[in-house]
Amino acid sequence: MEWKISVTHRRGSQLAPLLPEVTTDGILLLVRKGVQGEGGKATGGHAWEGHRERVRRMFAAIAPRYDLLNHLLSLNVDRFWRRFTVRQLRPHLSSKAPVLDLCCGTGDLALELAQQADVIGVDFCRPMLRIGQAKIARRRARVLLVEGDALQLPFPDGVFSVVTIAFGLRNLESPERGLREIYRVLRPGGVVAVLEFSQPLLPIFRHVFRFYFRNLLPRIGNWISGVPGPYDYLRDSVQAFLNQRELARLMEAVGFTAVRYINLTGGIAALHLGEKTP
Ligand SMILES: C[S@@+](CC[C@H](N)C(=O)[O-])C[C@H]1O[C@@H](n2cnc3c(N)ncnc32)[C@H](O)[C@@H]1O
Repeated sequence: MEWKISVTHRRGSQLAPLLPEVTTDGILLLVRKGVQGEGGKATGGHAWEGHRERVRRMFAAIAPRYDLLNHLLSLNVDRFWRRFTVRQLRPHLSSKAPVLDLCCGTGDLALELAQQADVIGVDFCRPMLRIGQAKIARRRARVLLVEGDALQLPFPDGVFSVVTIAFGLRNLESPERGLREIYRVLRPGGVVAVLEFSQPLLPIFRHVFRFYFRNLLPRIGNWISGVPGPYDYLRDSVQAFLNQRELARLMEAVGFTAVRYINLTGGIAALHLGEKTP
């Protein structure tokens, strides 16, 4: 597969020199100088910081059961949410320009997008990427997986027409910095799609959902994954995250225009869309 993304260091840009390296499992290691990727050697003196390392380890621990639990705990509705996202983006997808899918995990959104466009999926957790890579190979999908950090993307400014992030923004050390990084790599006129858990709208539904999320989901998740903790983290991170309006406001503060959101399944999740001004 050939990709025409230029990842060379440009004089005067803030990007550090890139260190591309294809590893034996077919996942491209593209990390900025000073960042440590699991699939490769350290490229500078820094270690991965606390929050990122904790999140990365947690996803590494649940990677083998991640897909099963996603579908089970959402009663398969997560598939609908990703398909809906791709449908909303369809007018912007083209076989000529690759889409960037951040925090791609095991590649479910990337695989949906790949039916319409070439996709570059970025995640910093290699065990998640390995599972994604097996699915991509089975379906011969046009997805290139890159091990990298969403907060320090190894791409020049303004190269992507569409950037997506599904259930990833909430996990970033700073969602605002994540949005700024997305803004940077988007072309003027480009579109971002953020799919994330949100705030159910109807009070009665909110109470039922909260009960499920607080009491049942962590127990089932921790039990089936065989790892104590990650599904407590899911509950806590969803509760602490921005609601629909707050996220829309943050996107506008970062510079996105035409920001709008669509509530999914009564607001359990929401799809936020925004544009970079041409
Ligand atoms: C809940 S999963 C979502 C995976 C996938 N997008 C989906 O829809 O199922 C969150 C993913 O974000 C990744 N992640 C979290 N912080 C990241 C960061 N700073 N850079 C890259 N990936 C990150 C994790 O490794 C994990 O695979």
